[in-house]
Amino acid sequence: MTEKQTGVWIAFEGIDGSGKSNQLERFEEYLTLERGIGPVNTSAEPGGEGSSLHRTTLRRLAFDKNIENDPITQLFEFLANRRRHILENIEPDLANGVIHLSDRSEGSTVAYQVFQYGLDRKTVMDMNDYATGGLRPHLTMLLDVDEKIGYQRKHGSKEGASNYFDCATLKDLEKRRKGYLWQAENFDELNLNPWVIIDANKSKDEVFQDIVEAVKKSGLIKGL
Ligand code: TYD
Repeated sequence: MTEKQTGVWIAFEGIDGSGKSNQLERFEEYLTLERGIGPVNTSAEPGGEGSSLHRTTLRRLAFDKNIENDPITQLFEFLANRRRHILENIEPDLANGVIHLSDRSEGSTVAYQVFQYGLDRKTVMDMNDYATGGLRPHLTMLLDVDEKIGYQRKHGSKEGASNYFDCATLKDLEKRRKGYLWQAENFDELNLNPWVIIDANKSKDEVFQDIVEAVKKSGLIKGL
């Protein structure tokens, strides 16, 4: 008899041009359509489609250009959004044995608000834990791309800038990437759940295979 799937939360993180959103979508299709594994739900932080009024409003506020110069306001808005995400989506999915794939989560706050915008690391991590009640992704997949490649991919695509975060300089991408790598390399000492670094400089197919292998190795998804 195959073991029953328990609720699991996997986050996909990465800088612009890492391909995390496309890879997340492909992984969801692979699980459900190709492998018949599920149920699987997906979401994106902040806010995102199908979210509550509260979350979509907080998303708009986080992207208000007027707060770009005040990372503390920014922090509160992302954390409030994360709390609603956990209460509305994550906790019910974990209770119902759903595999939940999220595009971004707490790793983004450390990469952006701490490493790019300069807020205090410990304060931010403590505030995050207070907002989440300590619930964090069981596994975080970091799609690590060289910032110069990420920058070129982003600016070479037809997608325009949809918010001020999209207007980042190469230096900003470098800071964000450093913040991500710092978490991935020190997750154990930081008392985080495991992070896996995926080399996202490779081709899309290779990156996808590496993701499947890494999740398989984690043992979190039964029958994978
Ligand atoms: P969005 O357009 O939703 O998607 P993405 O960049 O993932 O394709 O942009 C979300 C932006 O918000 C992104 O630039 C990262 C930023 N962000 C933070 O600064 N802190 C956070 O805690 C989160 C979740 C996101």
